[in-house]
Amino acid sequence: MAQLHFTIFIFFSFIFAISSSSFAPPRHPFDPLTETELKLVQTIINKTYPIGPSHKFTFQYVGLNEPDKSLVLSWYSSPKHNIKPPPRQAFVIARDNGKSREIVVDFSSRAIVSDKIHVGNGYPMLTNDEQEAATELVLKFKPFLDSVTKRGLNVSEIVFTTSTVGWYGESEAETERVIRMMPFYLDGTVNMYLRPIEGMTILVNLDVMKVTEFTDRLTVIMPKANGTEYRISELEPLFTRRFEPSFCSRKVQDSR
Ligand SMILES: *[C@@H]1O[C@H](CO)[C@@H](O)[C@H](O)[C@H]1NC(C)=O
Ligand SMILES: *[C@@H]1O[C@H](CO)[C@@H](O)[C@H](O)[C@H]1NC(C)=O
Ligand SMILES: *[C@@H]1O[C@H](CO)[C@@H](O)[C@H](O)[C@H]1NC(C)=O
Repeated sequence: MAQLHFTIFIFFSFIFAISSSSFAPPRHPFDPLTETELKLVQTIINKTYPIGPSHKFTFQYVGLNEPDKSLVLSWYSSPKHNIKPPPRQAFVIARDNGKSREIVVDFSSRAIVSDKIHVGNGYPMLTNDEQEAATELVLKFKPFLDSVTKRGLNVSEIVFTTSTVGWYGESEAETERVIRMMPFYLDGTVNMYLRPIEGMTILVNLDVMKVTEFTDRLTVIMPKANGTEYRISELEPLFTRRFEPSFCSRKVQDSR
């Protein structure tokens, strides 16, 4: 069975920056969370909201809960920063059974100090996991596979980008957390954007992990993969030579 390639481009998603000094004490109240602290967040939250495959609780964002400016300033202006720094806390946005939670975790007391359900504007950002799950879902979705066959394409060469549908208000029909999956074709190129598979509209509801809309309006001719290479290492010297400094300086001399 051929390996499935999928490239996922993440819009509005968050990449954890794990500090290299994971085990050193935090030096500044604005330092990002360490690896140890990130793990602690999971442990503390798991006491209240069990985390695991059988529970629909996901971490969409975990970051520093920035302390009050006045506390940071008084710490900063103290001689040799010898007063107690403001409390270290994490701010978490989680998705819990179709609701968005905003949770503040305090590290010294190892407890949740604030927990609210967010109502109103916006959705939590996407995670890699849910985009990968949505990709796998579509790659097994029968009407999609039929459309791929109809176009004479090899499903193993299809990759997706995802795009959030957006926020259109709070009425029942509009609150679904939905992404659009846009297919592209590799099969001989790495330059996927030049080979969109057009004509299909595929929507996935992330809370229920289901394809909620699929339409195939038309088939558009697929551009050839030939001539779409852009990686310098793969290009003929003819194309790369003009970037060589010696080549440029010789040209300057010639023109005198
Ligand atoms: C959460 O807690 C449960 C029960 O205490 C445990 O089995 C599970 O491994 C924990 N999960 C994580 C991710 O820590
Ligand atoms: C489809 O693509 C996979 C790998 O990308 C390849 O191994 C397989 O032979 C292809 N199938 C056909 C029918 O061309
Ligand atoms: C594109 O195809 C033509 C004809 O098959 C071939 O001569 C040419 O080398 C190809 N170009 C690239 C960049 O692969």
